[in-house]
Amino acid sequence: YLLQEEALTQECKELISSLPKEKGYVFSYSYKYEGFWYTPIYLQGLIACQKYFQARDSDVFLVTIPKSGTTWLKAIMFTLINRKNYPVDTKNHPLHNNNPHNLVPFLELDYVDNQNPDLSFSSSPRIFASHLPYFSMPKSVHDSACKLVYLCRNPKDTFVSLWQFADKLTPEETRSNSLGDVFDLFCKGVNTCGPFWDNVLDYWNESKKNSERILFLKYEELKEEPNLHLRRLAEFLGCPFSADEEETGMVEEILKLCSFNNLSNLEINKGTDKLAYGMENKAFFRRGEVGDWKNLLTTEMAKKIDQVTEQKFSGFGLLL
Ligand code: A3P
Repeated sequence: YLLQEEALTQECKELISSLPKEKGYVFSYSYKYEGFWYTPIYLQGLIACQKYFQARDSDVFLVTIPKSGTTWLKAIMFTLINRKNYPVDTKNHPLHNNNPHNLVPFLELDYVDNQNPDLSFSSSPRIFASHLPYFSMPKSVHDSACKLVYLCRNPKDTFVSLWQFADKLTPEETRSNSLGDVFDLFCKGVNTCGPFWDNVLDYWNESKKNSERILFLKYEELKEEPNLHLRRLAEFLGCPFSADEEETGMVEEILKLCSFNNLSNLEINKGTDKLAYGMENKAFFRRGEVGDWKNLLTTEMAKKIDQVTEQKFSGFGLLL
């Protein structure tokens, strides 16, 4: 349903008529709201959840910019937090027949066509995902004690992943996403919840100010030392691994269950099953590697992204 622009509410139509817009690549246009870019439907979800969502102190948020590894960390966080209710080593673990996006919903997408969505979860605490910029998060999130985990990824790999994904999302007959067009838009910051750099930087800065509340993770580091970062995550979320769990290899079990190889080869993620959001489950699994940009970007493109990154991150101590 993400493509149904005609499903916009009057409130959203009025809002977008006053906002700066840019050509979009899956949608006709993107709109700039509170400094970040959105498709119309996404914006509708954002303004509704800003108005109606009530956070609980126990809530946990996974925040990413699209294509940073959300699917992977959704699987990990769900498995980690629910490991007592859903033993990791059983055949009927929910990940065996659910795409991770069906286990951890996107907050703002739940509000697209419903001011009062059913947020009763089968487990506690509630885990939400979001792509929203820090300062656009609903006020109740800022006022509560809930924890936020932010995952980011190298911008060149994020861009390549986004471009490939956007292509899959666009109906074939209207597909015209040439790499050059999508690239220019990305560098200008025009992609859902972008500019990429601003989204990442706000969470980075906030995580420095309040490391009890925001854990900042990088996809590349998670790939490099998954065990270390899974333990950090468990500590941060208040569910550290016990000596018993360490001994029986719980850390490795979780990582194995959530690995690219395992998830992407499950029937549920291989066939034609689709998410409620409309995309096929398999669209979320492409290569899952670090540095694939080297195969797809020209030297000039890589240089251009590096320049923007250097300029935007200069002085903040963040290397991606
Ligand atoms: P690539 O397109 O580079 O392969 P998101 O989940 O935020 O939409 O990001 C999708 C990216 O994460 C894709 O990257 C996808 O292949 C990768 N991915 C999905 N599941 C993964 C996993 N279990 N481990 C590592 N990467 C994964």
